[in-house]
Amino acid sequence: MCGIIGYAGHRPAVPVSLEGLRRLEYRGYDSAGVAFKLDGGLVVIKEKGKIAALEEALEEAGNFMNATAALAHTRWATHGVPNRPNAHPHLDQSGELAMVHNGIIENYTELKQEMLQKGISFYSETDSEVLVKLVGECMKESGSVEEALSKALSRAEGAYAVVLISNAHPGRLWAARKQSPLVLGLGTGENFLASDVPAFLPYTREVVFLDDGEMVVIDANSWKVMDAATLQAKEKKSQTITWDVQAAQKGGFKHFMLKEIMEQPKVVRDCLTGRIDQQKKTVKLPEIDGLPVPKRLVIVACGTSSYAGMWGKYIIEKMARVPVDVAIASEFRYADPILAEGDQVMAISQSGETADTLAGLRLAREHGIPVIGLCNVVGSSVARESDHVLYTQAGPEISVASTKAMCSQMVMLFLLGLSYAERKGLLSDEDRAAAVSGIQEIAGVLEQSLPAMRDTARHLARSYSSADNFLYLGRGPYCPLAMEGALKLKEISYIHAEGYAAGEMKHGPIALIDPRFPTFAIALADDLFSKVKSNLIEVKARGGKIIALTNAGPGLEVDHPWYLPQVWGPLGAFTVLPAVQLFAYEIADYLGKDVDQPRNLAKSVTVE
Ligand code: F6R
Repeated sequence: MCGIIGYAGHRPAVPVSLEGLRRLEYRGYDSAGVAFKLDGGLVVIKEKGKIAALEEALEEAGNFMNATAALAHTRWATHGVPNRPNAHPHLDQSGELAMVHNGIIENYTELKQEMLQKGISFYSETDSEVLVKLVGECMKESGSVEEALSKALSRAEGAYAVVLISNAHPGRLWAARKQSPLVLGLGTGENFLASDVPAFLPYTREVVFLDDGEMVVIDANSWKVMDAATLQAKEKKSQTITWDVQAAQKGGFKHFMLKEIMEQPKVVRDCLTGRIDQQKKTVKLPEIDGLPVPKRLVIVACGTSSYAGMWGKYIIEKMARVPVDVAIASEFRYADPILAEGDQVMAISQSGETADTLAGLRLAREHGIPVIGLCNVVGSSVARESDHVLYTQAGPEISVASTKAMCSQMVMLFLLGLSYAERKGLLSDEDRAAAVSGIQEIAGVLEQSLPAMRDTARHLARSYSSADNFLYLGRGPYCPLAMEGALKLKEISYIHAEGYAAGEMKHGPIALIDPRFPTFAIALADDLFSKVKSNLIEVKARGGKIIALTNAGPGLEVDHPWYLPQVWGPLGAFTVLPAVQLFAYEIADYLGKDVDQPRNLAKSVTVE
């Protein structure tokens, strides 16, 4: 998501910070800003758009070369549109503190309300400005910046990495983290803070990775890590980074695609942040509070986003008994669709710029049908043109092949289904609590199982990379996952693959099965398990090799059973998704393909 750098040391702090921001540009951003101290006090310069625009604005800011400490930020919008007021850093009410923030403060509306009542004004729509103003409030009763920061953070729910500068303490920076990355870089006569190692890699390879609940204070010659709640000093060991800048941008992974697959536990957490009332175990989707539960939901999307929609159809119909149709946007726009009163359209798009999806959205609006945009890029065309927007919190997706975005779309569709079911009174308290705990446990399950999944994928890729074709099979909610698995394989490895409803196999595709035509099956232990099992016996009978994703224990007659962890009810898709992604990734990498930029494909398909 956002990029952060803080610098304290013997070099001119502002150019060093801006240079650091440039090395974080690959993450994507919509605005940039910097704060530093000059004789007259704190200076904050920020601009919408690229770092070059920030540099131009800096030209007019006097002698910034004298600043010995600075913090800078590239923003990827999560709250509020991309514009100058929403860009970071934000100042507190006294103008004595400036802060940059990465993450989401869940309870920022309540905190803001409290401060508005005290007469404090806000200049942006961001949760981040609320946080720095809360620190400002805490300064009034605290003896030090660290005490005020600690008090403020104890009231902030959600995720954050923050860096703070104070007018009263030239040359010093404070930082803290919870669920958002923050790393300390140790130099000689200089120290760095950053969201990501590449920001300072040309200056030092000696780093300290901060853990959740830690605070740090740095100046040019010292650093001290503390427990953010108690302010007790903590022992931390530094380590030496051996990656080059390119590898560091990918978090040490070989490709962005792999990094983004492995980020999915965090994506699930970020999507759930602020969405669950922990006491009542209910879902919060205030963006669509004003909309009734639709008589019918029509999902319009392309590619991977449409497969997320197909999975959502299954979930929403099952949990909330709301009919859902899923239309491929390029078909929908020319199909003269029948849209009736009470229908709602949901446009799903990671980029928010896909031409066909936008055309579908516009068509729905011409029919007077309310449109909900489900998209990842704040301020994108889908977001701007929809009547209501639900943002996924996947963060920038750089690899052309979409991975973590689908995961984030599935989280939001699950929450939507749950909220419709709640509103229709279809769920008992126990069922609702089970569903909420189920989705909340996914991040932890993925965190634990992804490394082993990757090993299995790597091992299987060696055995299957010579195949020219693959059949992917799944039933019910796993049918769209089979289609997604096939899409991933074909788009990055160029191996032909078909995703099929397992029950349809005998109506055609079974003719293709022979020992050189393998099948990748999704056979999780649900009420359709015995049916899938029978389908696989038919494949085996024709000499076809089978990999099967399963959590059903032994008993499947397949060549390579791939065991997945148990999760609640229909949420098995969250374990299947990274498995099919990793399998495609490992085959493509083994075959030496250009994984992040497959031929003929673009990240945003802005033309028909
Ligand atoms: C597949 C892929 C594409 C996109 C599709 C829609 O890996 O990336 O199929 O899913 O082009 O893109 P968005 O979601 O940006 O509308």
